[in-house]
Amino acid sequence: MEKTFSTAVVTGAARGIGRAVAAELLDAGYAVVLADLDAQQGQAAAAGLGEPARVRFVAADVADPVATAALMTEAASVFGGIDLLVNNAGIMIRKPPEELSVAEWRRVLDVNLTGPFLCARAAAPYLRARRGAIINIASTRALMSEPHTEAYTASKGGLISLTHALALSLGPEIRVNCISPGWIDVSAGQESLRAADHAQHPAGRVGTPEDVARALRFLADPRNGFITGENLVLDGGMTRKMIYV
Ligand SMILES: NC(=O)c1ccc[n+]([C@@H]2O[C@H](COP(=O)([O-])OP(=O)(O)OC[C@H]3O[C@@H](n4cnc5c(N)ncnc54)[C@H](O)[C@@H]3O)[C@@H](O)[C@H]2O)c1
Repeated sequence: MEKTFSTAVVTGAARGIGRAVAAELLDAGYAVVLADLDAQQGQAAAAGLGEPARVRFVAADVADPVATAALMTEAASVFGGIDLLVNNAGIMIRKPPEELSVAEWRRVLDVNLTGPFLCARAAAPYLRARRGAIINIASTRALMSEPHTEAYTASKGGLISLTHALALSLGPEIRVNCISPGWIDVSAGQESLRAADHAQHPAGRVGTPEDVARALRFLADPRNGFITGENLVLDGGMTRKMIYV
């Protein structure tokens, strides 16, 4: 098929940050393939974007090598190629380390770390052909912790490392960067935040999915092609704040 649009694949796009990223990329002129484990919410999110000619939903588990390969093949065949991969799908299981089962540990690592590797591997031939980019969504929990978050924290630390490893292996044709968000309110108004939740941030507020989406649009832009292997911390300044009591 002839190239008509730049094309982005966004995983975990049924809601939250992924859905906001899909909307932002659509606004930037991309055709967007939304991928998610949750087919019902994913299809609703795709329909809600209101641009059927430039939007597709594909049900996929990012931890499954067969599904991720099929996702990239479908994205490339529908829109003629892939210019941008956003590895956003992620899960968290919060349990004391003595209670976290090996299966739970593995599932978190499979989705949050192996998933981005599988998606990058499957998308690489298409991205290379377009001199495209990969953007991984890690977390400030890669850099600091609350108790009982071992699997999530380790997966996100691994994702920052995977970012610079891939930047070296896939460059110069493919740029690979990472965004580490802090507290992003993805409740879509369902959760009421306290004044203190906002005030503790040096920036004066909790983040929004759109904050992440706008930063991602900047990193995706080929005009910013000198940025690769980087981790952009997007947390309203929280990781810059000393908190000794
Ligand atoms: N919200 C925050 O405060 C915050 C902060 C730092 C990092 N993050 C990261 O940002 C990303 C998005 O977070 P969010 O808050 O929007 O999450 P969310 O839970 O609202 O959405 C995550 C989406 O990923 C999908 N998903 C889960 N497992 C999947 C799988 N195996 N395959 C495909 N899709 C799958 C879910 O169905 C869901 O639609 C995650 O990687 C998360 O770790 C979020």
